[in-house]
Order: sequence, then structure tokens, then C-alpha cells
Amino acid sequence: MGEALVEIKNLKKYFTMKKRLFSREHSYLQAVDDVDLAIMKGETVGLVGESGCGKTTVGRTILRLYEPTDGEIFFSGENIARISQKDMLPYRKRMQIIFQDPYASLDPRLLVKEIISEGMDKSLTKREVQKKVAFLLSKVGLNSEHANRFPHEFSGGQRQRIGIARALAVEPEFIVCDEPISALDVSIQAQVVNMLEELQDDFGLTYLFIAHDISMVKHISDRIAVMYLGKIVEVAESNELYNRSVHPYTQALLSSVPIPDPVEARQSKRIILQGDVPSPIDIPPGCRFRSRCRYAMEICGKETPVLEEIDPGHFVACYLTKK
Ligand SMILES: Nc1ncnc2c1ncn2[C@@H]1O[C@H](COP(=O)(O)OP(=O)(O)OP(=O)(O)O)[C@@H](O)[C@H]1O
Ligand SMILES: [Mg+2]
Repeated sequence: MGEALVEIKNLKKYFTMKKRLFSREHSYLQAVDDVDLAIMKGETVGLVGESGCGKTTVGRTILRLYEPTDGEIFFSGENIARISQKDMLPYRKRMQIIFQDPYASLDPRLLVKEIISEGMDKSLTKREVQKKVAFLLSKVGLNSEHANRFPHEFSGGQRQRIGIARALAVEPEFIVCDEPISALDVSIQAQVVNMLEELQDDFGLTYLFIAHDISMVKHISDRIAVMYLGKIVEVAESNELYNRSVHPYTQALLSSVPIPDPVEARQSKRIILQGDVPSPIDIPPGCRFRSRCRYAMEICGKETPVLEEIDPGHFVACYLTKK
């Protein structure tokens, strides 16, 4: 594979929480704990896991919207983990984010053309801006007449398209797509995913695509990383992960995906995940999934498994692979 556009190494993001109101004692909420991930130029990496496992925090920390607690963030080979916010400015345009909620992410008082052109190069003339807005609208399946309307005049899917046009306006190289289709009707989810794929080809974009379940990212992702309670537990090429998953958590996530073929569905064993994700505050040592794992062994409570390559490009953090 080519070179990495984005690479995180041992990335940690802990939020400090007061133990009690008016107390000086703190606990640490380990939202992201020692995460390694490389995203190649032009690649789409899917990041999946249940609610609260740290997906958004990974995305926001890469963009330095959250300050990393520790670790490295390389963008185009430069370590941006600790540079000042001023030095981050040139990178701001090169990295963008698209949000889950198209309703909340657009300023209702601005016209669509103002929303899209907000981040554009200030040296552009009015006419150039107008042309660029029209071009971007056409790229996301809208038209230039939409430029003079307000966000409330659009459907959820159309608003998400406006959000995508706004992200593209600064000509980014990397986009964190944070559950961009989860809030949309099932009927338009595929349209938006297809559009994101076309835009990726047209503009040579690199994506980190966040979603709850694997089925949503399988089609668009080259590789998929599965996260559980702040850690990546399995990474593999998309088909490999779908067909030959190894981590019990990945298998449980996959078995909760409805199978369209009734015969196949009857034959497959559904693994029901018991309970919720445990608290991410002051996590004890050991494998974080062990409290919900059907195969938990003694060692899982003592030591924390690390990601190891079990097949070329297929990484798993689980002691079962060592049995
Ligand atoms: N600004 C914050 N301050 C304190 N805790 C936070 C903050 N942002 C996130 N967290 C906590 O960090 C953990 C990870 O949250 P995050 O939003 O990254 O999860 P997620 O995987 O994106 O979940 P979801 O699928 O619900 O969007 C959660 O326990 C969350 O409560
Ligand atoms: Mg999230």
C-alpha cells in the first residue's frame, strides 16, 4: 500500500472528571487509550463500535478539536499532536469533519451560499465564490438555485449534502465522516454513501468513516477498525473482517446484523451481547471486553492484550489467538 496520510501512534485522550462535586480528587475517563491506526492516501477506513466506545473522540482528536493526552498524530508525515493552534491553521483546511446531525450542524440564520463559502479563500472575487458554490452544489447533487435558501427549507438528506459541500469548499485531503448517514432515512443512506464515494474519486479524498455497525461501513471501507471501550480490538481489510473476524466482540457485532436470507439466518448462530459497555472511568487492567466475553480466561483479567498481526494486514488484540 502507498503512504499514510494520517497516522496515530499510542494516541490517548483522557477526560478528567471530578470524583465528587466540590472535590479536588479526579478520575480519568479513558475515552481513547493507546490507539494506533494508519490511514493511507485515498483510503477509507471504517471505525465501528457501540455507543460511547470512543469513535468520535478519535476523530476529533486527530483534527485537534480535542487536545490529545498523549501520543503522536502524523498528518502527511508531520507530527501535529503538540503544535500550537496557530500552527494548526494550515492543517485546518486540509482536514475536515462531517457530522451525524445535519440539522444541528448548519447555522439556521445563514443562506446556503454563505454556509458553503464561509471557509473559502478570502482572495476569491464575489463571482469566483459564486461559481465555486454552484460547482460544489452540483457535485453534491443540488443545484445553484439552492444557494439562496436557508437550511430549514431542505430535507435531512439535502442538509447533509450541504454539510458535505461546506467541507469540500476548503479543498481538504482528509475528511472524518462521523456517522454521516445514521440520522438519515434508510432510503437515502445509500445515495449519500455512493455520493461520498464518487467525491472521493473526483477529489482524491481520504476518509475515516465512523458508524455503529459494520454493515453500514462494509461497502465504503477498504479496511475496518473495531473499537471497544477506548481501544481498537481488531483491524482488517473489509471483506476479511466481515468473513473471518477473530475477536469475540467483532463476532458479536457482526452477528447482530440482520441476515437477509432466511435459510442462512436460521443456520447462523446469533451471539447476543450481554449488558452494556462498562464505565470508561478508572478502567481496571486486563482485557476490557472480558466482562462480556463468552471465552474469558484467567489471563484476560490480568494483562491487557495488544494488537498483533495474525495474518497479513489482520490485527487482533485477544488472548484466544495465542491458545
Ligand atoms: N467532552 C467530553 N467530556 C467528557 N467526556 C467525554 C467528552 N466527549 C466524550 N466523552 C466520553 O468519552 C467516551 C467516548 O465518547 P465518544 O463520543 O467518543 O463515543 P462514540 O463511540 O463516538 O459514541 P457514539 O456512537 O454514541 O457517538 C464516552 O464515555 C463519553 O461519555
Ligand atoms: Mg460518536
